[in-house]
This record gives sequence, structure tokens and C-alpha cells, in this order.
Amino acid sequence: MPYDLLLLDVADRIATVTINRPDKLNALNDVMMDELGRMFGELAGRDDVGVIILTGNGRAFVAGADIKALAARDRAALEATSRVGQAVFRSIEQSAKPVIAAVNGFALGGGCELALSCHLRVASSSAKFGLPEVKLGLIPGYGGTQRLARLIGRGRALELVLTGEPIDSAEAHRLGIVNAVVAPDALLDAARAFARTMLKNGPLAMARAIDAIDRGLDQPLDAGISHEATLFGSLADTADMREGTAAFLEKRAAAFQGR
Ligand code: COA
Repeated sequence: MPYDLLLLDVADRIATVTINRPDKLNALNDVMMDELGRMFGELAGRDDVGVIILTGNGRAFVAGADIKALAARDRAALEATSRVGQAVFRSIEQSAKPVIAAVNGFALGGGCELALSCHLRVASSSAKFGLPEVKLGLIPGYGGTQRLARLIGRGRALELVLTGEPIDSAEAHRLGIVNAVVAPDALLDAARAFARTMLKNGPLAMARAIDAIDRGLDQPLDAGISHEATLFGSLADTADMREGTAAFLEKRAAAFQGR
């Protein structure tokens, strides 16, 4: 099935997904959520893709859930909206391939939550981040209350969620929300530079590193490091682990095959 609101470009094992509803500042409606879920499912299975970059067309990364679509929803529908979106964002967070958000403009509400679901965030110096849902009588519903608090701590997350006020990229960087801030016209190059660095690494190792951090973070330390040990050991069954260690010892670049 084609995509109406997403553009896809694949080159040099980097998939760039561009959210393309610029006249509504890429506001996230049901169609877009469905397409994001399908897109990440498709990219998971593509052998020609190793890293995924997610960005927005125009002035926004995503300016939030589509307020017009939300306004009339009853309790059951609103909760279902949250659960469907949470599942899609969780699938992005659990992607075995690294996902980099290239935040080009407004990342508000659901857009901020979408960026928080990605593994890395690179921001344009003109981007704005915020969780303004309380201004609408709502709360973040796509995992934002949970992920932001885990990323930057309870006190700072509460400040952003309770004021609803946006912050600029420099402040987002200072708080640890974004990994890097670059000039607007250098954004995609910066995201691709991260991607190219990752593409040199073992894909199975990166997938398990994502899993180790994702599953370990919310467990007691002993359970987390035990999970790490299991994953660490499992890499002995991969050709990539033999190749990576042999390449180091033979003083050459590793040629990983993802198996
Ligand atoms: N849902 C639905 N439509 C949205 C939207 C959203 N979250 N964010 C922007 N839009 C639409 C506007 O309604 C407008 O559509 P129109 O031209 O048909 O009137 C269009 O996108 C452009 O937005 P506009 O508000 O005119 O741009 P601006 O530069 O004046 O303001 C923002 C930009 C981001 C500050 C402002 O659009 C905004 O506050 N958006 C909502 C942010 C939000 O609360 N997100 C959380 C949602 S849960």
C-alpha cells in the first residue's frame, strides 16, 4: 500500500523517512500513525537498510497530534488513540535498526514524543521542543510522560509537562533531550554522519545493544546486567563477532554481514 503522508528515500543503506503534511505542520492524524507503523515494519524487513533517519518537511518535525481530530473523541476513543500511538512509537523505540530523529522544526506534543521514541535526536538550531498538552486540557499520551522523565529526570520532565512551555534546541541539548544541535542546512548531513558511523558497526551487535538498554533500563541493576550477559554471550553464535574480533587482530576493517 502506498504512503500518502510519508516520503521514503533509501541510499547507501540509510533510509530517510520524511513526514510530509507541511500545510498542517505535520500534525499527526490516524492516517499518519498507521503509515508510520507500516513504514517501520517495512524498513525492519529490508536488507538494504541499516539505519533509519526520521525528519519532517517544512517548518515542523511534527507539531503534535492532530488537535482537530482529537477534539470530539470520547473517553474510549481517546484512550484507544493513545494506545495505538503508543504501540507504534514503541515499535520505533524497539527497532533493531538505529533510528535517528533529525528534528528540523517544531517537535511539540506527539512530535516531541515521536522524537523521544527514536534512539538519537539531532536538532536544527531553529527547532523547538515542548509538551504543551496541558494547555489543551490533555496530557502527553504517546509515552511522553514516561520517556521524558526517564531521559532527563522527574523534576525537569515535570517542569516541561506542567508549564507546557516550549524550549529551544540549545536548552534541549543542555537538558540531554538532544544529542547534537547543528545549523538548519547541516541537519541531514549531521544525521547521516551519525548513520554512517553506525553502519560501520555490527548490525546484530547494535540490535542487541538497543535491546540491552531498552529492556535493562527499567529493571533492577542486577536483572539488567544479567540480561546484558545473556545478549553478550549470544553474540558468540554470530559470524559478525568472529569477523569483528578477527579484523581487529589482523589490523583491517571489519566486513560485517549481519549474521
Ligand atoms: N493539530 C492540528 N493542526 C495543527 C496543529 C496540530 N497539532 N499544529 C498546527 N496545525 C495547523 C494549524 O491549525 C494551521 O492550519 P490552518 O492553516 O488550516 O489554520 C497550520 O497547521 C499552520 O499552523 P499555525 O498555527 O498557523 O502556524 P504558527 O506558525 O502560527 O504556529 C505553532 C505554529 C506550532 C506554534 C502552532 O501551530 C501550535 O501551537 N500548534 C499546536 C501545538 C500543540 O499544542 N501540539 C500538541 C497537540 S496534542
